[in-house]
Amino acid sequence: MELSLKGKNVIVTGGALGIGKETCVLLAKQGANVIVSDIKEIEGNFVVEEIQNFGGEASFVKCDVTKEEEIIQLTNTFQNQNKRLDIMVNNAGIANKPSFMHKVTTEVWNKLILMDLTSVFWCQKYATKLMLGDRLGGSIINVASIAGLGASPSLGPYCVAKAGVIELTTTAALEVAKYGVRINAVCPGWTETAILDVAGERGKSTMEKNIPMGRLGKPKEVANLITFLASDASSFITGSVYRIDGGTRS
Ligand SMILES: NC(=O)c1ccc[n+]([C@@H]2O[C@H](COP(=O)([O-])OP(=O)(O)OC[C@H]3O[C@@H](n4cnc5c(N)ncnc54)[C@H](O)[C@@H]3O)[C@@H](O)[C@H]2O)c1
Repeated sequence: MELSLKGKNVIVTGGALGIGKETCVLLAKQGANVIVSDIKEIEGNFVVEEIQNFGGEASFVKCDVTKEEEIIQLTNTFQNQNKRLDIMVNNAGIANKPSFMHKVTTEVWNKLILMDLTSVFWCQKYATKLMLGDRLGGSIINVASIAGLGASPSLGPYCVAKAGVIELTTTAALEVAKYGVRINAVCPGWTETAILDVAGERGKSTMEKNIPMGRLGKPKEVANLITFLASDASSFITGSVYRIDGGTRS
């Protein structure tokens, strides 16, 4: 199976840490030119350095995905260099502090929906427009969550946002399928990154017990799936939603 991404230009949001970081590294190892984008400049530049150290191509672009104007600028970065955008990984996301739905404040709700759903709508929208514009197609991967596929008490706003990301993916994918723009979603289960810190050590150990494989996922395992969906090895796949969760079904 050919996963080579030589000559492909990629943007990864939330690329400084966790799943985004591993995705940037793996895509670069397959030969892609990667824009590591994040609000965390220092950590993002570390990722760029790591990629350049093995001879890969990468640069950092600061972008807060809660700001539409910044996303427009980010998605145009390659075009401004007379290159095209081939692959867009919409990965940046946060979790809400555990709270039952009837206790969630409007402020928390709005923040979560803006960060985890509206931002993906914007990233997907502007990336799709560019990919349609030059008629060369492309691959967009949205990072949702298994929380968007079922109920997760205390994580209501996050579940709703991720369910929305899944619907954004499947609907838009069918709209542009015939133009060669593929849009897919990955739904990680609990994966060992900083995002789980909101659950605390006790919460993490409960999560582990509920995973049939008996352990949390590794960010690199999710990055493997994203890289497959980014590559031509997945050329007949669009509008699909992939669980990657060690067998979790709750
Ligand atoms: N780790 C898990 O268990 C898990 C499970 C399912 C889905 N996910 C999803 O995976 C994605 C990556 O999360 P992660 O686990 O790697 O978490 P993480 O906290 O390690 O990484 C998230 C990244 O997003 C960046 N970010 C936060 N706010 C931002 C903003 N406004 N603009 C741009 N970047 C911003 C952070 O700086 C960080 O680099 C998220 O969408 C998350 O919801 C994670």
